[in-house]
This record gives sequence, structure tokens and C-alpha cells, in this order.
Amino acid sequence: MRPATWLVVVFAFGMFADKAGSQTQRRVVRVSAERFTFTPSEIVVDPGEEIELRIKSDDTAHGFRIAGTSVNVVIPKRGRGEVTVTFRAPDPGRYTFECTRMCGAGHNFMRGELVVRGPKTSRP
Ligand code: CUA
Repeated sequence: MRPATWLVVVFAFGMFADKAGSQTQRRVVRVSAERFTFTPSEIVVDPGEEIELRIKSDDTAHGFRIAGTSVNVVIPKRGRGEVTVTFRAPDPGRYTFECTRMCGAGHNFMRGELVVRGPKTSRP
């Protein structure tokens, strides 16, 4: 699937979870890593929401760290499975996530953003 399609799927699932009123269920977000991008590169969540990331690589081993959180894992190389990490979304704001393993020339540019929405009242 193209990145845009992925985002739509993530948003659709989020809306479904809201409708069900399920606060205890973790939202699962699948992320794939490939030199030198994460897909999706932007993950939008609500503050305090329980998130389960399932991250896999489509090539070599990468790292995944979200600044300002305790999330910091190694993504095994392709064919070695995925890494699962759960965390509670922090306060509203933008948190950069980045690769932490030297994976090639574009390593320093391999990053994305976790966006934690503001209070519901301020939503468009
Ligand atoms: Cu991927 Cu460094």
C-alpha cells in the first residue's frame, strides 16, 4: 500500500475505536522501516492513549526511538519478524522519532513524527 493509503487506514481505525467507546483497547499501529523512511512517517494519537506499535523492516536492521518517551527499540532485519512496543501517549505536542542504528548514507534523515492531539475541544 502507498503511504497515503496507510494513513487513511490508521485514521479509519481510530474513528471506529472512538465510536465503540473502548478506552481500554490498545490501538495497534503498524510501521514499516526501509532505507531511509518510516511508513507512516506521521503517527497521530490522543494524549494518554494506549498505543501498540508493530514495527518491521523491509531491508536491514534499524532502530526506533521516540524523543521524550521511553520508546527505544531495535527493528530486526527483514525476515526476522517484527518488534512490538507499547506505550501511553504523552502530553499533546510533536515528538520526533528516529532511527538509532547506522543503516546507511541516509541514516540521519530517517525520522518521522508522533503527533499527540490537543484537547478534544480544540479539534477542527
Ligand atoms: Cu535506519 Cu539508521
